[in-house]
Amino acid sequence: MQNFDYQTPTRLIFGENAIAKLKEVMSALGKKVLLTYGGGSIKKIGLYDKVKDLLKDFEITELPGIQPNPKYDPSVLEGVRLCKENKIDVILAVGGGSVLDCSKAIAAGAKYDGDPWDLISYKVKAQAALPIVDIITLAATGSEYDCGGVISRTETNDKIGYVDPLLFPVASFLDPRYTFTVSKKQTAAGCADAMNHTIEQYFAEDTTLLNDGFCESMLKSLMVNARKCLENPEDYTARAEMMLCCTYGCNGILSLGNSESGWPCHGIEHALSAYYDITHGEGLAIITPRWMKHILNGHTLPRFVKYGINVFGIDASLPKQEIAEKAIDATYEFFESIGIPMHLREVGIGEERLDEMAHHIAVNEGLENAYVPLTEKDIKEILVASL
Ligand code: NZQ
Ligand code: ZN
Repeated sequence: MQNFDYQTPTRLIFGENAIAKLKEVMSALGKKVLLTYGGGSIKKIGLYDKVKDLLKDFEITELPGIQPNPKYDPSVLEGVRLCKENKIDVILAVGGGSVLDCSKAIAAGAKYDGDPWDLISYKVKAQAALPIVDIITLAATGSEYDCGGVISRTETNDKIGYVDPLLFPVASFLDPRYTFTVSKKQTAAGCADAMNHTIEQYFAEDTTLLNDGFCESMLKSLMVNARKCLENPEDYTARAEMMLCCTYGCNGILSLGNSESGWPCHGIEHALSAYYDITHGEGLAIITPRWMKHILNGHTLPRFVKYGINVFGIDASLPKQEIAEKAIDATYEFFESIGIPMHLREVGIGEERLDEMAHHIAVNEGLENAYVPLTEKDIKEILVASL
């Protein structure tokens, strides 16, 4: 087992009417609040009015309109400007992962005198950040329990995962009822995202029985509960379990002591959504089984066998290679069964820019150090197989 130094300082406040504690949490952080949100879903579900009512004694400045795959320009830049101009004390992010991620970059940028891109691109290390509180409304990214935010810069086709312990939310409110209105498309994509977060940590060296069991349980729970959420979007118990699974997905708890896997599917997908603005979870679902096929070899075979038997219940007496191939097919079939388009062409990506994207990924994502190292040629082959 590898050494580690681990801390997640975020307070999780979970369950029906969790936001009854919002005022108490916010009061400890200041009076001047930047309220960030997306394209309007929080207004449709009544959450915007509820927040405004709970915080009527606070001075609220708003940053609406944060898009999926949140953009540096205008959202991060505008948020930083509002924080500085209004001397904001605390950011309250209400929405999906995109709103939270954008708010994290704003939190660091607000305490930095230069161009916030210096921080996101790791040219400069942030020395401070505003505190962030969030109310998450979409089960997917785990942004509510991690210190990362993924920011897109359209003109350079960059989509960068900006990670810094300063960016952990102080508190995250998770009320599964707020996810009842999440569309089938986003529910399925959220499930695929959290499954891939788990897979990225399961397919690694130096794994333990403990971590493997945690990951296998996550994957089984996500598959069962995503189906239930799709059948009945207001199934509280299923939405709640899915929400908690997603929360665990991205903050490293599933892989404490494992070797770094390099998160190869994310490295590849980030380019897809940077170049084509596709839904992150859909891109991952398309890439994952192709990546699995590409890396299946004598060394990785035992991992696939364990995955196949413990996650999909494949007959352990079959030949190992057959178990592994069935496991990869089962992964593909599950994503397809929850309605995810499983080819790049179906999400508007043709072969025109595959070379350019493969090069961009090879140069920027460090996948030569992944669980199974990937060269530019490997990346191109995975992309071609995904068409
Ligand atoms: O903009 P609004 O109107 O709020 O609508 C959103 C958006 O259109 C809608 N939505 C959110 N909550 C809803 C709802 N619709 C109805 N009812 C609700 N309760 O869903 C759409 C997608 O929202 P978005 O926030 O983009 O989705 P998600 O949470 O999947 O976030 C995706 C982003 O997170 C990044 C991805 O790359 C992508 O940019 N990631 C962040 C990570 C992290 N911070 O740790 C890790 C992930 O791997 C991922 O890369
Ligand atoms: Zn993800």
